[in-house]
Amino acid sequence: MRGSRTLAFTAAAAAFLWVCAPAGAQQGSKSTQGSKAAEAPAAAPGSAYAQRFAQLCAACHGANGRSEMPNTPALSGQHSFYAITQLFLFREGRRANEAMSAVAKGMKDDDMRGFSDFIATLPPVPPPPPATPPDSARMARGKALAQEHKCVFCHGADFSGGQQVPRIGGQREDYLKLTLHEFKSAKRVGYTMAMAEAVGRIPGEDLDTLAYYLARFPVASGTTPTK
Ligand code: HEC
Ligand code: HEC
Repeated sequence: MRGSRTLAFTAAAAAFLWVCAPAGAQQGSKSTQGSKAAEAPAAAPGSAYAQRFAQLCAACHGANGRSEMPNTPALSGQHSFYAITQLFLFREGRRANEAMSAVAKGMKDDDMRGFSDFIATLPPVPPPPPATPPDSARMARGKALAQEHKCVFCHGADFSGGQQVPRIGGQREDYLKLTLHEFKSAKRVGYTMAMAEAVGRIPGEDLDTLAYYLARFPVASGTTPTK
């Protein structure tokens, strides 16, 4: 039962993402002379979403995408494909959070794409310097855990992710902790089973150590993220 429902959902999501995500790719492939006029408006919606982000999202996620609100993820440096997937999951009630479910509920597909493309233009912003220097033993343990459990395999050696895999280096520690525990308890169901499988057998205290390590991982600021 559950398996087939998940499968049906995955198919629906894949169909949806096919419509939304390949916009960039399509644009790239059909850029023959003459079609410039049709593609030109791309800049205008971008600035419209910059404005809407400032009005609707910045209060929680920060004007530059670096959230200062507890349990609220930084969006700066996040990838368009990942962001649109999550907005889709919130809208469809597959990822539950009171604030975000309300925000995503009324979004049209174009809105989700507009916000996600705008998010992808926000360069990564390092967290504010911590009050105390990182505990080197805990950092070493976090590094070992990230190797052992193959976090680096999907999220990259610098944890910057790519495409549907989120950037996690320099993310807020409270949010990382919360969301890793939610993957483990299946309160957060991912777009795929990747994270449930990755954290399923990791003890809670090791998840906390991973959150500690990832939140303090140095972020190269100013690099525009890939999509
Ligand atoms: C009232 C506060 C609030 C507002 C307003 C808000 N968000 Fe969020 N957002 C959150 C919280 C909290 C989460 C984390 C939810 C969770 O823990 O599952 C989140 C998660 C997200 C995520 C997933 C990020 C990730 O790393 O998984 C995206 C994308 C996002 N928000 C985009 C937006 C956009 C776009 C807007 C404006 C249209 C917006 N949010 C407005 C609070 C807010
Ligand atoms: C097989 C690939 C894979 C592995 C291994 C993996 N991840 Fe992930 N991770 C993903 C994907 C894909 C997502 C997006 C979640 C979804 O499916 O909606 C994700 C999401 C996350 C998120 C949520 C980020 C956010 O902004 O909400 C965190 C945190 C995370 N992973 C940490 C880890 C850690 C820590 C490990 C190692 C214990 C790990 N991941 C191993 C693929 C992987």
